[in-house]
Amino acid sequence: MPCASSLPRNPGVLYGVRQFSPLILGIGDGEYFLASDVPAFLEYTRKAVFLEDGEIVRVSRDGWEVFHRTGEKCSKTVFAVPWDPVSAERGGFKHFMLKEIHEQPRVFEDTIAGRVNLARGEVEFEELEDFPLDFSRVVAVACGTACHAGMLGKLYLEDFVRLPVDVEYASEFRYRDPLLDEKTLVLAISQSGETADTLRAVELAKQKGARVLAVCNVLGSSLTRLADWTVYTRAGIEIGVASTKAFLAQMTVLLLFGLFWGRKKKTLSSRMMESLLEEIPTIPRKMRTLLSREEDIHALAREFYLFKDFLYLGRGLYYPLALEGALKLKEISYIHAEGLAAGEMKHGPIALIEPDVASFVLVGQGERRLKVLGNIEEIKARRGKVIALCNEGDGEVWEKADYVVEIPKTLEVFSPLLAIVPLQLFAYYVALEKGCDVDQPRNLAKSVTVE
Ligand code: G6P
Repeated sequence: MPCASSLPRNPGVLYGVRQFSPLILGIGDGEYFLASDVPAFLEYTRKAVFLEDGEIVRVSRDGWEVFHRTGEKCSKTVFAVPWDPVSAERGGFKHFMLKEIHEQPRVFEDTIAGRVNLARGEVEFEELEDFPLDFSRVVAVACGTACHAGMLGKLYLEDFVRLPVDVEYASEFRYRDPLLDEKTLVLAISQSGETADTLRAVELAKQKGARVLAVCNVLGSSLTRLADWTVYTRAGIEIGVASTKAFLAQMTVLLLFGLFWGRKKKTLSSRMMESLLEEIPTIPRKMRTLLSREEDIHALAREFYLFKDFLYLGRGLYYPLALEGALKLKEISYIHAEGLAAGEMKHGPIALIEPDVASFVLVGQGERRLKVLGNIEEIKARRGKVIALCNEGDGEVWEKADYVVEIPKTLEVFSPLLAIVPLQLFAYYVALEKGCDVDQPRNLAKSVTVE
């Protein structure tokens, strides 16, 4: 193949070169597509070829070929994208984000399908058959929403597998000289599998000898090709820029992965496993109950959409959710929102409380519940407005907060899977009331493939 500078004029021939940012060839019926993401051509074809850095694709009437930059021909796999083009339509919903929030019960069912074996009391991952037990620690790397899933994953893994877990923003990790070795499992979480910082973090981890498990939503994406193992989230195509169902699927996979590994390592008892597994089939129904109360959340959003500042507070499993709730609100409604570990309130953020600052307080269960109730009192004493999210029938919360959002009762480890639904709906309806472009918020991209 001639080098690019000496290519003759060649009508009807198109070349594409991949370097750092993704490039995908879509193979249609008598037509080809070059795109950075599968949804761009999903309407026309589901056949995709993913290029690697340094590869050049040539398409013409006679067909397609991929070359390495040295001129050598590469043999490439044609992937059959499992997404249905209909899933890339709004299907009667006003926005993709709303549709994707509503898809979550089904996403949960798809993500656990074939993985939760109730009869045997086990969690199985066929993609992890050769997964070893010799890791001494885990480092989760991710960006944005996926990093919040990683923070929750840390709590699940530490609890079930009893291994130390660090969570890092990939953009920080990749520019350090992190301490990693072959006993470190790097858990890379990404909806797209194409986020530049996450990919560079994984490359660095591999150079340092760590092994990598990807939690990813896009079949054949760059991340999955770098990783030693991939567990797919089965969220389907996600189009809204603000991630919703992909986050739910990430939380679900990380929970299942914790259960799987915990049983393999015997750090999780079979009795505990059994009681956790019993609850799993009830989750989609409880999610649907929450979705059916959508109009209550809309009414709440009407009360709050003119506020300029929000604090989201949570402890334990609800701390990552507080971060995610705040991120959703700021992404699509452009309202300043901060997620905080509720225990940190007294070390600074409490100074912000005044009547026109709203706090979304995630109450939770167990011993932390009382502490969070204390946070509500502190905010009310300073005349701040409080929306509290709690379990059904928590009378004390009704007494203390201005507004209450209830979630159906479940075991504590599952409660984030339910609590996220009203947080997403609230952000959505606040943005709607403000007249914002929910699916394409200003300054944001669905997939950040460059620095
Ligand atoms: C962008 C998106 C976020 C997403 C983040 C990481 O910022 O707007 O919604 O969480 O990238 O994306 P990834 O595809 O790696 O999960």
